[in-house]
Amino acid sequence: MIVYGSGGLGREVVSMFSNEAGEMSRKAKLADDFLWHPDCWPDKSDFVVAVGDGKLRETMAARALRSGHHMCFGNFGMYAPSVDLMPGVLILKGATLTVDIQIGIGVLINICAMVGHDCILEDWCSIQPNANLSGCKIGKYAYVGMGANVVAAKKGEPMRCIGEGAVIGAGAVVTHDVPAGETWVGNPARRIG
Ligand SMILES: CC(C)(COP(=O)(O)OP(=O)(O)OC[C@H]1O[C@@H](n2cnc3c(N)ncnc32)[C@H](O)[C@@H]1OP(=O)(O)O)[C@@H](O)C(=O)NCCC(=O)NCCS
Repeated sequence: MIVYGSGGLGREVVSMFSNEAGEMSRKAKLADDFLWHPDCWPDKSDFVVAVGDGKLRETMAARALRSGHHMCFGNFGMYAPSVDLMPGVLILKGATLTVDIQIGIGVLINICAMVGHDCILEDWCSIQPNANLSGCKIGKYAYVGMGANVVAAKKGEPMRCIGEGAVIGAGAVVTHDVPAGETWVGNPARRIG
């Protein structure tokens, strides 16, 4: 298993694979983005991309796929059998996913994040440590910072939506929809960019 990424997240993911039993996990290696291009990996390597930024994950995954490698998923958290995992999804230790959740390609669910019922996580979005979600849609490439809470819409209201590429700051409490590309912080969350 190649863990493609060179930062702290990559080291965390290697350590999680290394603590798992089995041949594949004993071979987990960190591939530094700049020093070890996928063309130099062994033929048809299994890989996951471990970087926090969704667009960069997508670019790196595309590069590795072009070089003929096989994108896997890594799960070290807990999820109900009804949760579908797409290739490239990374669920780190302590993360919990409950029921009626759709997860797109290359989504990152970081340490101890909680994804509650009725959530849609679109491709390449990033949910950082201790974030807490329920009843919401997180758009493609969106970034939910550590400890942020996205509060579900009230019963009978449409699902809470965080738009494509939006950024939710660490510790925010989001009680409104966040349009695509905007940055919101604080409690209650407000727009800063
Ligand atoms: C939201 C965030 C992306 C903004 O970064 P930025 O664009 O560089 O913003 P700045 O640091 O210039 O701050 C702009 C203003 O927002 C405030 N602010 C920034 N982040 C904030 C946060 N999380 N909560 C409350 N206020 C925040 C700053 O205090 C500043 O306020 P001021 O203008 O009154 O001084 C960043 O602060 C953040 O929270 N990132 C998430 C980090 C994270 O979760 N990492 C996970 C690693 S595993």
